[in-house]
Amino acid sequence: MADNYLEKRYDEVFGSGRKTVRKVGGKSLDSLLLKNRSHRGFDHEVPVTMEQLRTIAGVNDKIPSGRNQQVLRFRLVTRENGGTELQKLTKLGAALPELHLPFPGTEPEAFIVICTTVPESKFVDIDLGISLQSMLLKAVEIGLNGIAIGAFDKAAVRELLDLPLDPALLVAIGKGTDKIQLTRITPDAPHAYYRKEGIHYVPKIHLDDLLI
Ligand SMILES: Cc1cc2nc3c(=O)[nH]c(=O)nc-3n(C[C@H](O)[C@H](O)[C@H](O)COP(=O)(O)O)c2cc1C
Repeated sequence: MADNYLEKRYDEVFGSGRKTVRKVGGKSLDSLLLKNRSHRGFDHEVPVTMEQLRTIAGVNDKIPSGRNQQVLRFRLVTRENGGTELQKLTKLGAALPELHLPFPGTEPEAFIVICTTVPESKFVDIDLGISLQSMLLKAVEIGLNGIAIGAFDKAAVRELLDLPLDPALLVAIGKGTDKIQLTRITPDAPHAYYRKEGIHYVPKIHLDDLLI
């Protein structure tokens, strides 16, 4: 590939006034990041298709990887091929045990199961994070939502889906129904999410307090 290929492509996509153009297809990264909240309730009237999951998983042949080892593998699960059973092996909203999330009838039904071909390590975990966030942003871009699920029964998920590899992380995908707002906190304030009058609040430390 010519050295200036990316530069030319950048100009084609963004135009030459680089500093002023911040959006592709009308969705800036900031707006995707803000919309990318963790939902724990999903609309069963809007079933996720295998094609949508494939579109979301499609980020994975374009992202960085530690030493470019690309050790992650993915199983796509919809309502049709095990999503309902898989959901029962997961735990949502541990910080709000009294709510017993998800509410009946709003359970996630579609998942991307991320497996690894090697035991977990620092690099594998970083790859997992890059993959997770890239897929969640893609979900938001196509009008869906999601949540990472680390709390699940690994052995039971492997058996249920007849996986050839150990699952490391689940990503639930669907049309989110939660009303979610970010709140600004200082580093010493409680970090736990909470709900008040039907709104799910997620505290985030302000950038000024993140910079050292
Ligand atoms: C690696 C990882 C694992 C997570 N596992 C769970 C989980 O098992 N159950 C759950 O309800 N939320 C889980 N979450 C979601 C977090 O609770 C959520 O990201 C956090 O509350 C901040 O909310 P936000 O994603 O809307 O910013 C997980 C998030 C990450 C990044």
